[in-house]
Amino acid sequence: MTTQITSFTDYKNIFDQSIQSPEKFWAKEAQTFEWHSIWDTVLDYDFDTPSISWFVNGKLNITVNCLDRHLPEHSNRVAYTWIPNNPDEISRSYTYQELYDLVCKCANALKSYNITKGDRVCIYMPMIPEAVIAMLACARIGAVHTVVFAGFSSEALVNRIIDAEAKLVITTDGAFRGPGEIPLKEMVDTALSSKTTTVEHVIVYKRTNSEVTMTPKRDIFWDSFMDNQPAECPPEIMDSEDPLFILYTSGSTGKPKGIVHTCGGYMVYTEYSFRNVFHYEPHDTYWCTADIGWITGHSYIVYGPLLAGAQSILFEGVPTYPDPGRFWNICQDYKVTQFYTSPTAIRKLESFGDEYVKSYDLTSLKTLGSVGEPINKDAWEWYFTIVGGGNCQIVDTWWQTETGGILISSLSQVTPSKAGYAAYPLPGIMPIILDENGAEITTPNTEGFLCIAHPWPSMLRTIHNDHQRFQRTYFSRFKGTYFTGDSAKLSPDGLLKIIGRVDDVINVSGHRLGTAEIEEALNSHPDISESAVIGYPHSIKGEGIYAFVKCIEDTHSEENLISELTNHIALVIGKIARPDKIQIVPDLPKTRSGKIMRRILRKLAMGEKDSLGDTSTLVNPEIIESLSRGIIPA
Ligand code: PRX
Repeated sequence: MTTQITSFTDYKNIFDQSIQSPEKFWAKEAQTFEWHSIWDTVLDYDFDTPSISWFVNGKLNITVNCLDRHLPEHSNRVAYTWIPNNPDEISRSYTYQELYDLVCKCANALKSYNITKGDRVCIYMPMIPEAVIAMLACARIGAVHTVVFAGFSSEALVNRIIDAEAKLVITTDGAFRGPGEIPLKEMVDTALSSKTTTVEHVIVYKRTNSEVTMTPKRDIFWDSFMDNQPAECPPEIMDSEDPLFILYTSGSTGKPKGIVHTCGGYMVYTEYSFRNVFHYEPHDTYWCTADIGWITGHSYIVYGPLLAGAQSILFEGVPTYPDPGRFWNICQDYKVTQFYTSPTAIRKLESFGDEYVKSYDLTSLKTLGSVGEPINKDAWEWYFTIVGGGNCQIVDTWWQTETGGILISSLSQVTPSKAGYAAYPLPGIMPIILDENGAEITTPNTEGFLCIAHPWPSMLRTIHNDHQRFQRTYFSRFKGTYFTGDSAKLSPDGLLKIIGRVDDVINVSGHRLGTAEIEEALNSHPDISESAVIGYPHSIKGEGIYAFVKCIEDTHSEENLISELTNHIALVIGKIARPDKIQIVPDLPKTRSGKIMRRILRKLAMGEKDSLGDTSTLVNPEIIESLSRGIIPA
């Protein structure tokens, strides 16, 4: 097991050592894992090309470290207790041995359908154990999984399938979500019939037992796929730098980026950060409420906890079903010790009042985590006082799909926490705040661009099929350093505060969306000629989506068009990207060169018409008055 930091003094010493000799530091952590053969160089990198290799020529299989190495000693330890969406349905537990057997069977089944090392497998599933089994089965045989969040539409799914050139899709007949059902298989069928893909087979796990159409030869039910497969599968020997998975995330252009993570470094960092941020101890019960379709699910539901031999909850449902006490009910019944969720969920549950929390015994809780967006002071206080009863440490964890693991956070029971601050970098992480010109800002309370000066093991290695975009996005704004896209500042006592994105990415309910992606989707509607999308402060979601759209001609009633556009976005991207506000406008504010001035739209949307700043470069200043009259109030 990796180092467990025990006190603030210990943290400071280890941090200093990690900065002085990063390679020595990481080699020591990496040695705690099972490697098929050890690396010959710890780190080889060049941020200009860019090229990053950790544990060069080391050979391993991450599933050996997630599963085999806990056996037979911990065969009967529960890896997951799965809690279904419907509280009347019985929960199921999986020991490390059972998980191992199922992963091996699934790995053998994948092989029997000609999936081999390097092939891409798309997983489009709800939060059920089979989703985790499918991910690990891919990793067992060296196939690269690409999990697509089950809330994405058919079109978003097929675009990811095409970009990843997936050979096989694993899905379910349907998904239960709160009181509703989502017809996942039907969405896969629509996806695969809309465009030509490389998909040869679709595996369908029966979750809702709803009617599905099975395409002969292509589609196979999970049970027959797994049937008669042996529960032993030798692990594929992977190079430390072989890809483990691709996960799509939004950027500042319309096309999502396939973030590539590799085996060795990701393994070392996810276990190390999991154990230290959450202070996981034997017999704890850890619960992360994220979806496996996001990086939080990958790193802190699947890989980090399994690598640490932890016991976790896997939850299929939503926070408010059957009522807003669901999370707290589960925490009480399963004696959860570490609970990790998003500020949006916290704010939403807070809005239902304290009674839902207070009717449950939450004294088992020790650590409360937050992720995905800045947590405002009010939500932080409520989480601390009402949920934690003033006895739990809050860890506000800052990281990204690209970083693979938590880079900045207080460490539970080790370093102090403060509302509004992600706090301290983990040992081995070197954040710096830069000004416009790339000079380091050391003056407290001065906002600047958050960068990471030195590689860390779980950083992304490239963007699938677009290494140039990788270089441009992260390594060109400031030379020789990784640019996060966020702004931050330091407090006088050295704590880091994350302020927010500085690019055209917005964070809606902790879901990352590109404004360009939503604009592209709006513009693909036949009645729309142009659009501009901005984020605005939203009391529950953190940021809401405000769309200004210009029509080709006035053919619709405004109300019809707005509902049509809302449905259109749900079809093109998914429900998560539906705008909160759509304003039909006669024109958009533009510069002489035709660039839309989103800054002005942001100010108008926030009711700051009197502080628009310099508008002299606008080619159509007269538009401001009419835009301002039409602003949809909060
Ligand atoms: O802006 C930061 C915000 O979420 C972005 C990363 O989004 P994504 O790749 O979807 O990963 C989310 C889960 C790790 C960051 O660039 N963000 C994430 N965590 C925090 C945060 N902003 C403030 N505080 C955080 N704790």
